[in-house]
Amino acid sequence: MSNRVAVFRKEHFNAAHRLHNPAWSDEKNFSVFGKCNNPNYHGHNYDLIVKVVGEPDPQTGYLIDLKMLSDLVKENVLQKFDHKNLNLDTAEFKDLNPTAENIAIVIYNILREKINKKFDLQIRLYETERNFVEYPAN
Ligand code: NI
Repeated sequence: MSNRVAVFRKEHFNAAHRLHNPAWSDEKNFSVFGKCNNPNYHGHNYDLIVKVVGEPDPQTGYLIDLKMLSDLVKENVLQKFDHKNLNLDTAEFKDLNPTAENIAIVIYNILREKINKKFDLQIRLYETERNFVEYPAN
């Protein structure tokens, strides 16, 4: 049996966004995105859970140093997005609708570059307590 273990680090950020498809009319945008289409933006308290899967190092017993993982997320994700207007303040969402789905994909792609390829990575992002997404899906 393999020793594969999943470790998780939970972080938090606040950000504003507006969901909007510029190719559509105002009416269609409102009918699809509802309150999240509010022209003057609105905020969410995002909970971000970073999951790393692999085998623990035999010397340390650690899979990955969680302090290092936390610093990695702070430096590369939270500094970019915390207390920002995702549409206006970030290059990532200049032309990409900042849905929870797209935010999770963007965060995954940022962190995937920084975490050893021998580990699997998954992002879970809570936009509200009851609405959350995971990427990759499996
Ligand atoms: Ni929203």
